[in-house]
Amino acid sequence: MKRFYLESYGCQMNVYDTQGLERQLEDHGYERVAAPEDADVVLVNTCSVREHAEERTLNRLAVLTRLKAKNPALKVGVCGCMAQRMGGEIKKRVPRVDLVVGAQALPAVLPALAALDRGESPTPVVEPLDHFLPPPRPRLDAKNLKGFVTIIRGCNKACAYCIVPTTRGPEISRHPDDVVLEVQELVLRGAKEITLLGQNVNSYTSAGVDFPELLRRCGAVRGEWRLRFTTSHPRDMRPDVVRRMAEAERLAPWLHLPVQSGSRRLLRAMNRDYTLEQYLEAVDVAREAIPDLSVTTDLIVGFPGETPEDFAETLALVERVRYDTFYAFKYSPRSGTAAARREDDVSPEEKQRRLALLLDVQRRLSHEVNQAWVGRTARVLLEGKDEKRGNGLARTGQNKIVVLPMFDGFKPGRFVDVAIERAEGQTLHGRLVEAS
Ligand code: SAH
Ligand code: SF4
Ligand code: F3S
Repeated sequence: MKRFYLESYGCQMNVYDTQGLERQLEDHGYERVAAPEDADVVLVNTCSVREHAEERTLNRLAVLTRLKAKNPALKVGVCGCMAQRMGGEIKKRVPRVDLVVGAQALPAVLPALAALDRGESPTPVVEPLDHFLPPPRPRLDAKNLKGFVTIIRGCNKACAYCIVPTTRGPEISRHPDDVVLEVQELVLRGAKEITLLGQNVNSYTSAGVDFPELLRRCGAVRGEWRLRFTTSHPRDMRPDVVRRMAEAERLAPWLHLPVQSGSRRLLRAMNRDYTLEQYLEAVDVAREAIPDLSVTTDLIVGFPGETPEDFAETLALVERVRYDTFYAFKYSPRSGTAAARREDDVSPEEKQRRLALLLDVQRRLSHEVNQAWVGRTARVLLEGKDEKRGNGLARTGQNKIVVLPMFDGFKPGRFVDVAIERAEGQTLHGRLVEAS
């Protein structure tokens, strides 16, 4: 039996694809191992979103291909977004890579491995395939109480900075019956939290079903579990759509709604396709429709032409929305994107300074927002144990971590009520109120 080792970088959609690859390999007689040293085949599922991600992966690939010194039969493969973007160029950077299969051609991994077995050297595959990997096999172990289901692949937007439309190709929605079936299977196997995934879940449309309707159908699957989705694009969050989304059962009060910038001018330069006013309206409507909603976002600092005034508008937006938390990234030019043709004119030092300022605000805001939970009761999903301190770990519907003393009957996958007693930065502290 051949042994494989798989490493995954990038977004949750890559995690989903990686699990699908694992399933396919296991179904074809491969055995998964936990260390690259024990493998006959090492695969790396890659991300291209920022240059830093690519550089790190190229270094990692150099390390992994060096394992061939001890195990000359070892094959090393690169798949996913970097493979899609760079194709054969990867072999120029890391010559001892044996296989390159792009994110849009993942079902070609197995045939490429078979070709390697026959002693051939397969050419890089980046031509999009119109069939998909099998969905991941839901696992029963305690760690996988969380399930992910990709509902839409690719992206039809054209944000000026973003490589994803190139690496993932145009949007393709999965059939709603397939999605619901996968959700049902996950719930039957014990999943307590399921996240519907897409670069832009709100553009979902298949067999006459739009995203709010898909959410309704998924949320109607019986059992004690909660439903999340990510990522939403503000342009598609019209008030009527948001209100329909909010009606889904089992929906967790958490909305990740990337804004990227608080500057109207930069939103246009980024080709984000919504105004600041539309964004703020979407947030307001969602907060009205979903009680105790946690709102999070993504921000980019140092986009070409970002002035101190533009950045001040981003700071003002963050204060205004009072995000529960957010992710901020330094702009990274990606070749082939519209923004890469503009001058990357904010210096690295200034990008770093703006990032640090944002993170300061984030720490303060998260603390303030979380402070408001003190004295309240929250329904949490028990997740595991903090081995160092012996505490229990749990998560609220708002996706906040709660630390609590262990108790009899603590079991990952149980929902219990917890009295929140203290907030420390991003973390809440509480104790059990009542088991259920
Ligand atoms: N589809 C999602 C996000 C995909 S990428 C959306 O539309 O919101 C995740 C995040 O990476 C983006 O929200 C953005 O903040 C960041 N990002 C994407 N391209 C980037 C680049 N070239 N430089 C820096 N950050 C980038
Ligand atoms: Fe990239 Fe924009 Fe598509 Fe998101 S919506 S994946 S940021 S192009
Ligand atoms: Fe990265 Fe590809 Fe996801 S570029 S963020 S792994 S879609």
